Amino acid sequence: MSAPILVFDSGIGGLTVLRELRTHMPDRRFVYVADDAGFPYGDWQEDELRERIVSLFRDLVPRYAPQLAVIACNTASTLVLEDLRAAFDIPFVGTVPAIKPAAERTRSGLISVLATPGTVRRDYTRDLIGRFAGNCTVRLVGSSELARLAEQSILDGDVSSDAIAAEIAPCFVEERGRRTDIVVLACTHYPFIANHFRQLAPWPVDWLDPAEAIARRARSLSETAGEDLPEGFDEAYMTSGQASYAMRRLIRGFGLGLAPRQG
Ligand code: DGL
Repeated sequence: MSAPILVFDSGIGGLTVLRELRTHMPDRRFVYVADDAGFPYGDWQEDELRERIVSLFRDLVPRYAPQLAVIACNTASTLVLEDLRAAFDIPFVGTVPAIKPAAERTRSGLISVLATPGTVRRDYTRDLIGRFAGNCTVRLVGSSELARLAEQSILDGDVSSDAIAAEIAPCFVEERGRRTDIVVLACTHYPFIANHFRQLAPWPVDWLDPAEAIARRARSLSETAGEDLPEGFDEAYMTSGQASYAMRRLIRGFGLGLAPRQG
């Protein structure tokens, strides 16, 4: 059986990437790791978060012997991708704000990047803007609430529209007759509530989700699959070891078997 592809996030957001990975690589095996004990990542101090993630991978890499890891989290990728590549001998595919495609696609030249406060603060994000969006006006919108609201919406089935509307409102800019026409979904949790975004937006925009591009990149780096289809369930591992009933149901719904608590 071929080695699995490990998909990592702080919570359920990476499932939006897993969905695309499976569409592009139906014959691969996946291990989904949610660092729910550390969720949300958005407000962590950079040094502490970097250390936490690298040390989690010191356990995950020998445990699952993955052929490839997808960091399905902008907040982590914009911080720790280089450290992971230096520390481990497997390819890492990151998820970083889709600023380049947004700059190529915008007609008004007004782009917003909706992300966690961590992603908005990163040098990595500022650097992407400097390199690829020099001709655009980019508004960075950091939300401490949206990742949590997305989890609440998916796990409890209920979420306050007013709360979501307040978080996305700063994305909409009107300037000298031009309006924002693209909002980059720079947190993997957000596609789960993109329908709410669409309904609550003051005018229509493209909500740019990079999951498909990540899946294509991962496929180009992944080993060709063997003849056999993967056996049984893909696996999910939660660092808290304490998935709620709603979480277990969601994980099962994604065709993932919950790994027993280890260590
Ligand atoms: N899903 C993560 C991301 O893409 C972040 C969610 C969080 O932990 O705050 O940034």
